[in-house]
Amino acid sequence: MTTSKNELLLIIDFGSQVTQLIARRLRELKVYCEIHPCQNINPEFLISKQPKAIVLSGGPGSVTDAEFLKPPVAIYSLGIPILGICYGQQVMTSQLGGIVEQENIREFGRAEVFSSNEASNLTIFKNLFTDGSEVVWMSHGDRVISLPVGFKGIAHSANSPFAVIADLSKHFYGIQFHPEVYHTVNGAQFLENFVRIAGFSFDWTMRQFKDEIAKKLRDQVGNEKIICALSGGVDSSVTAILLHNTFPNQVTCIFVDHGLLRKNEAQEVSQIFKQHFNIPFIEVNASKQFLSRLKGVSEPESKRKIIGSAFIDIFNNEAEKLRDHKFLAQGTLYPDVIESVSHSGGPSETIKSHHNVGGLPLDIPFKLVEPLRELFKDEVRLLGHELGLPKEFIRRHPFPGPGLAIRCIGEVTQYRLDLLRRVDAIFLDQINLFGLYDDIWQAFAVLLPVNTVGVMGDSRTYENVCALRAVTSVDGMTANYYPFSHEFLSQTANRVVNEVVGINRVTYDITSKPPGTIEWE
Ligand code: XMP
Repeated sequence: MTTSKNELLLIIDFGSQVTQLIARRLRELKVYCEIHPCQNINPEFLISKQPKAIVLSGGPGSVTDAEFLKPPVAIYSLGIPILGICYGQQVMTSQLGGIVEQENIREFGRAEVFSSNEASNLTIFKNLFTDGSEVVWMSHGDRVISLPVGFKGIAHSANSPFAVIADLSKHFYGIQFHPEVYHTVNGAQFLENFVRIAGFSFDWTMRQFKDEIAKKLRDQVGNEKIICALSGGVDSSVTAILLHNTFPNQVTCIFVDHGLLRKNEAQEVSQIFKQHFNIPFIEVNASKQFLSRLKGVSEPESKRKIIGSAFIDIFNNEAEKLRDHKFLAQGTLYPDVIESVSHSGGPSETIKSHHNVGGLPLDIPFKLVEPLRELFKDEVRLLGHELGLPKEFIRRHPFPGPGLAIRCIGEVTQYRLDLLRRVDAIFLDQINLFGLYDDIWQAFAVLLPVNTVGVMGDSRTYENVCALRAVTSVDGMTANYYPFSHEFLSQTANRVVNEVVGINRVTYDITSKPPGTIEWE
C-alpha cells in the first residue's frame, strides 16, 4: 500500500471513457486511488491491496448480455463501502440479485434527479438536493428495475426509477448518472460524501503522487538509460525533471528546436534544463530544415504531416547516437489518450487516435515511458511545482506541437514567422500587464494571408492583417472567447500596429468552440 495511512480507494474499471475522471475528482479531494481493469481483480488481488472503499466505474457493456464483465463477488463481503456508477450500479444490482433491463428509451445527456423525502438527511446526500433535485449527466441504455434485498431507491429521474439506490446497512450505493463529469453540477459532492462515509482522511498530496510515480518508474526502468523528447512545453519538461529526479544519472534530453516556438521560448527551455537542473541536454537547431520542408506549403494538414515527419527524422537521427538508451520518455497526458484507448487496459472502445509531434512512431526499438499518462493538465502543473520548476514556466498556456506554423495561415516563411512572433509577444505582454494571463486557457496571435489598405501619417499602407485569439476552457475540448475590455483591445491593437512594421490591421476572433476550433488550422 502506498499512502502513509494505508488508505486506498480501488476503482474497478469496466471501460468507461470517463473512468479517469473519477480518479481525478478523488485526487482533488486528496484521496489516494488506483484504477485497475475488472479483468485483473481476483480475491488475492483484493487481499494484497486491502482497499478502504471500491468504486465500480461505468462501461460500454450490458449486464443483460449472456456474457458480461463482473468483479468477483468477494468484493461484497469485504465489509467496505462500494459505489457503483452507471454500469457499476447495474453490475452490482445484478450480482446481488436485483434485475436490470434494456430500455426502449435511452437516456443521454442532461437530466434532473429527485431525492425521496426520507433520503434528504442521509450522509450520501449531504449538501445535495437542497431544493429537492440535482442536475446530472446520464449516459445509459440499461436501467435497474428491481432492487436486491436490503436496497432501497433514494432518488429517481424521469426515466430511471432507481437513479440512486442504497443498502444503507452495508454502505453500498448505486447511481445511474456520472458524478465524475463536469456536467453533473454537484458531482464532486456525491463523491466526497461517499468517501467521507468510507472514513478517508483527505490528506493525500501531489508529493505522495510524485513518490508513487517514482516507485513505479523504478520498477519499470531499473538501471536502463532513458531519452526524453523535450518539446519546450510544460508536459515534456515535467516528465524530464521527474525522470531526472528519480534517475539522476540515466536521463538524456533531446530538444529539437523546429524554429516554430514563441519569442525566446527555445532559449528559456535550454536555460532551465542546462543551468537550473543540470540535465544532460542535446539541443538540435533544426529551424532551417523545417522551413525548407515547409516551403510553398499552405494546406494545414500537409503542414502538420511535414512537421511531424521532419521531427521524427531529426529526432531519430539524434537518438541513433544514443543506442545504449533503452527507454524513450514522453509527456503524454490523460486527455491525449482518453479517446484513443482505455487508460487502464480495460475494455473501452477506440474513438480516435491523437496526433502529436511528441507522439513519435519510431523505427528505433525504444520502450516507452509515459509517467504523466494518468494526469490532467492542472495536475501536471502541480507536479511541476512539486519538482521545483519555476512558476513562470509552469503556468504557461498549452502550445501545439506544430507550433507557430499552424498560426501562420498560408505559407510559413522566416519573415512571416518573425512578424507573427512579434505580434504574439505584444499580445502576451498586454495580457500580463492587465493581469489576465491566468484567467485565460490559451492566447495567441494568428497571421492571416491577407493584405489590407491602411493609412499611417500621410501615407497609404498595404500590409498584413493579424488576428488575436484568447479563449477560456476547462480541457480544450470546448472553449469560449475571452471577453476583453474595449480598452484592452484598442490599446493592444494600437501597440501592434505601431510596434510591428508590416502589420496594419488587427482583428479579434470571437468564435467559440464548437463551431470553431481553438487553433485556426
Ligand atoms: P483545437 O484547435 O483542436 O485545439 O481546438 C485543442 C487544443 O489542442 C491543441 N492542439 C495541438 N496540440 N499537437 C498538439 O500538441 C497538435 O497538433 C495540436 N493541434 C491543436 C490546441 O493548441 C488546443 O490547446
